[in-house]
Amino acid sequence: MTLWSGRFSTAMDATLWNLSESFSFDAVLWRHDIIGSIGHVTGLATAGLVTPDEADALIRTLEQVADEFAADAFIRAPHDEDIHMAIERRVTEILGPVGARLHTGRSRNDQVATTLRLFTRDALEDVGVLVADLIASLQRVATRYDAAILPGYTHLQRAQAVPLSHHVNAHAVALTRDLSRLADAQSRLNISPLGAGALAGSTLALRPDVTSEALGFAEPFVNSLDAVSDRDFVAETLFALSLVAVHCSRMGEELVLWTSAEFNFAHLGDDFTTGSSMLPQKKNADVAELARGKSGRVIGNLVAVLTMLKGLPLSYNRDLQEDKEPLFDSLTTITLVLRALGGTYDSLVWHDDVTRHAASDEMMLAIDLADWLVERGTPFRDAHEHVGQLVASAVEQRITLSEAAAASEFWSGSDAIFVPLSSLQRRASAGGASFASQANTAKWLENQVSSHLSRLRARGVTRPATM
Ligand code: ARG
Repeated sequence: MTLWSGRFSTAMDATLWNLSESFSFDAVLWRHDIIGSIGHVTGLATAGLVTPDEADALIRTLEQVADEFAADAFIRAPHDEDIHMAIERRVTEILGPVGARLHTGRSRNDQVATTLRLFTRDALEDVGVLVADLIASLQRVATRYDAAILPGYTHLQRAQAVPLSHHVNAHAVALTRDLSRLADAQSRLNISPLGAGALAGSTLALRPDVTSEALGFAEPFVNSLDAVSDRDFVAETLFALSLVAVHCSRMGEELVLWTSAEFNFAHLGDDFTTGSSMLPQKKNADVAELARGKSGRVIGNLVAVLTMLKGLPLSYNRDLQEDKEPLFDSLTTITLVLRALGGTYDSLVWHDDVTRHAASDEMMLAIDLADWLVERGTPFRDAHEHVGQLVASAVEQRITLSEAAAASEFWSGSDAIFVPLSSLQRRASAGGASFASQANTAKWLENQVSSHLSRLRARGVTRPATM
């Protein structure tokens, strides 16, 4: 028997059941649904809709059901359509008539919105911790190879030499923006929908502020129609995850390039590479390729939810049930990718000799020569022209830039420009690619990570130790 059987004379068609049931994917919400129900019971007790003893019995039973889920011992009944109905059915089965009071003044519409916000609130913190771990892996690369240099690229053409630490820190800086976005998304979703009922609130003396506080939300909803139909928080979370995925994808692409024989800038540990079923010599950077490839489905999940939302009239519509699989899938995917990418950077072995050689390509000192002229009073456009001519003549004669400069009176005195690494030392501008600026960046990264993580952890704690 379904929980709504009063209004119906025949059972649901099997095809509709298969289309409609969501327990098969929303059972992962059990913990947060039970937390939400405990908050609701607190509200019922405050409103005098259950006695203190009944409230105690309901909470104890909800905890018992939580234990069943935690022990993988919960048995789904044939009519358990989704996680919310399954839990209520089980509570009633254990408690009898008192259990039948649990859903007083509540609809699955405000219930599912509450459960999903509680779930997402925790999930954003969990992802934040993994993003911070990846930043730490990047920083370990920077420390391990603190003297390494490589060419910096624009248009994938060699542009200017940079320290490896400056390069990996660039990815870390992008990831701090992700941390900040995750914390923003979390603070915006921290509104309690409980008490909105099906769509219009309740005639009962329930107080949304009481349940909001019990569940550690910042405040209760202001409009019940919006409370049950708002899934902005899902879309926003999926966008934040999409940008994390895009950042991981770019790092993945770079690792694929770096570990190719053509670049040969680095190799990955055996524990983070795969072989070929046919070609015995192969060692493939599959982790990096999957970090790149998985971004497609994470972006797809965002588009799926935005598309599902765009035509919905107020308020709750069953379409909204389609918010869950994309959200769960993106969270699972990002969790895997962040962990694997961190491990990959930890296993990375840098080929210092190769990249030092690549970074000593004198053509990358062309701008230093132009700056040298500028410092001696030449307007930059003219300096650019002079250096351009020097580059052209070096290319034509198949000699290096320093050889070409040495052969011309015009460039006399410029030899210091060509002293290895002197370019990096001279580039002392704030945030620039000098070794000296890396210590500041490391400090900045540390501050960003700790301030965003503490924001992510600052919201109300509703995860009891036992659950
Ligand atoms: N499983 C449903 C969902 O995720 C629960 C809400 C169903 N509400 C309803 N009125 N049919 O959206």
